[in-house]
Amino acid sequence: MIDAWRGAVYVGTAILFIVALKLMNSPKTARLGNLLAALGMTAAVGVTLEFSLIPAVNLLAIFFAVVVGTGLGWVMARRVQMTAMPQMVALFNGLGGGAVALVALIEFMSGGFGMGAKVTTALSTVVGAISFSGSMIAFGKLQETLPGKPIVFPGLKVVNLLLLGAMVALTILVVGTELLPAYLTLLGISTLIGIMMVLPIGGADMPVVISLLNSFTGVAAGLAGFVLENTALLIGGGLVGASGLILTLQMCKAMNRSLENVIFGAFTGAVAGGGPAMESSTGTVRSYTPEDAAIVFAGASSVAIVPGYGMAVAQAQHVVKELADRLQAMGIEVKYAIHPVAGRMPGHMNVLLAEADVPYDQLYDLDDINPELPETDVALIIGANDVTNPAARYDKNSPIYGMPILDVDKAKTCMVCKRSMNPGYAGIDNELYGLPNTVMLFGDAKSTIAKLISALDDL
Ligand code: TAP
Repeated sequence: MIDAWRGAVYVGTAILFIVALKLMNSPKTARLGNLLAALGMTAAVGVTLEFSLIPAVNLLAIFFAVVVGTGLGWVMARRVQMTAMPQMVALFNGLGGGAVALVALIEFMSGGFGMGAKVTTALSTVVGAISFSGSMIAFGKLQETLPGKPIVFPGLKVVNLLLLGAMVALTILVVGTELLPAYLTLLGISTLIGIMMVLPIGGADMPVVISLLNSFTGVAAGLAGFVLENTALLIGGGLVGASGLILTLQMCKAMNRSLENVIFGAFTGAVAGGGPAMESSTGTVRSYTPEDAAIVFAGASSVAIVPGYGMAVAQAQHVVKELADRLQAMGIEVKYAIHPVAGRMPGHMNVLLAEADVPYDQLYDLDDINPELPETDVALIIGANDVTNPAARYDKNSPIYGMPILDVDKAKTCMVCKRSMNPGYAGIDNELYGLPNTVMLFGDAKSTIAKLISALDDL
């Protein structure tokens, strides 16, 4: 009877997870999606615990772990800055992978299972351990406790190949012999592979790697679901594995990189991230004051706002919304042009703008806004750089070559708000700043846009 109940709750959980994923497609419904997923997870965990069979001392330990884990997760999630979200995802994801590897270790030590379960135990150990150590390195790089740029050394490729060979051999040995020392060595080597996999990856590629590791954790959890014969874990893991992989591939597509190029880019030297400040632009750079800029807006009838990472850093989304309201009150049509990899995580700009209550129908994807930009009077770029760099269209030597960009250079006037001539994440010069139709509005995004609003008021 209890099994039938549990089965029914697991099916309900799976439905909640799927509906939640669907709801996460839009910022409007994402909150509800998150809530439903949490509800599903709580129900699944609740019915999995067989309270009557668990010794009191273990129940106490479980209760303690749940309270401490929930408390820590709650505090961290409340406190995290939006710009630090990728490293928090990396940390939580790594802990998930590590938990799967530990569950597999305990299952292995209890022994006495068939060939299928032995194979899945070994695989969940490998994938869980890689996900754990890889995510911890990713966390360290993003948190800047480790150097953000690729860490490579001569012979890295050979070392990695040897490690991979050892991993395959040990997996076969573990499945065939069930020897604990072999198993522990496999655990260690897999952990090392995770480290070696992420060390050579550069800053701008980190979100892609985190998404890939997320997918790994899902696969590891799904495999653990097989071992533990737990349907909810199996389905949940499968969903995380598949959605993580889709997200990874979508990010690669938006940056025009292949997954192989992201993972092995460091070996070929084609690495993005953290380059030197640009020395000069290709043309004469013209700088406007907020007062000059206000005059340009006064003569405009259409404006496209292009937000980027700098808007997130400056937390300028509210003042940007205020500016848009002000422009609309002047009879100007305002649209927001959203590049899929603007910022540092998928949907970064959408989340920020939703936080400032920007109506969702004013947000335009790259493919929708680009054909309109040549007819737009002013493209106002706020803390975006790489996603507007025309070199992506033609410069084969550029690390962002082939990445679809927002065609802001085609707007009648292109106004760029940033603090200096420094490059963006890819570390490369942006010729946009020297084009004859571009003007720079130097300064911190939040204070500069506020000054622009005052200047509009004074007109
Ligand atoms: P970036 O190219 O990184 O440029 C951001 C610009 O913001 C910088 O040039 C900086 O110039 C400016 N900035 C920083 N703080 C500012 C402030 N307080 N006020 C005003 N401006 C400020 O950003 P982007 O255009 O959004 O492009 C994103 C990059 O990240 C791309 O290279 C993309 O490939 C990469 N990436 C993104 C993702 C996702 S999923 N979003 C994933 C992987 C990689 P100053 O220092 O001169 O102010």
